[in-house]
Amino acid sequence: MNRANLKKEYLQLVATVREYVQEQLELGFTELQEPQQESPYATLDLLQLDADAQGCTRCGLHATRNTVVFGVGNPNADIMFIGEAPGADEDRQGEPFVGRAGKLLTDIIEKGMQMPRADVYIANVLKCRPPGNRNPQPDEVEMCRPYLERQIALIQPKVIVALGSFAAQLLLNTKTGITALRGEFQPYGVAGQRENAPMIMPTYHPAYLLRNPKAKREVWEDIQKVMAFLAE
Ligand code: URA
Repeated sequence: MNRANLKKEYLQLVATVREYVQEQLELGFTELQEPQQESPYATLDLLQLDADAQGCTRCGLHATRNTVVFGVGNPNADIMFIGEAPGADEDRQGEPFVGRAGKLLTDIIEKGMQMPRADVYIANVLKCRPPGNRNPQPDEVEMCRPYLERQIALIQPKVIVALGSFAAQLLLNTKTGITALRGEFQPYGVAGQRENAPMIMPTYHPAYLLRNPKAKREVWEDIQKVMAFLAE
């Protein structure tokens, strides 16, 4: 393409963008929004979503997993707990939070909140175990994200307790660390979609509490805020 044609094409592009922005402004939009991509799972219910996840090969973790750990609990729960990824026990049993960290989470729910574990819904950012419990990789999080987003859309909890930095950063779309995020409610979802959005309470991951028992006090403060919110 010669320079004259290139320039003509460029000017046409600029005119098209200007026209689009003008049209949006006339329609009352004051900020540009990214087009919403329809989730591949938008029509699936929880059972269908689980069945789909059981055969998932979207990322490399399918090659090393023993089971897909989709999530457990009450499909109408007011509260969801979201962790990072299954560990060895969870990978064996197909259920989230059943190992040592899971026992601590169960105690927080049953002894602390005085609720049966079966009344809440528990899931993870990743549905398959990263080998050797390494951190989730960005591509794995991205591939698995539609499952979690659909779980949240179907369950419609009032509160989501984000356990640790991976869950908190994904749900709040931030890179801020868990120490700065914890203890403060923030709405889930992007700007403009906040009506009836679940509130996210970021707190420390139970596995961190096993290594740092002193941080249990802060988690208990966060959980008390959650209980007060649910009692409102
Ligand atoms: N840690 C997690 O984040 N999830 C589990 O299911 C177990 C341990």
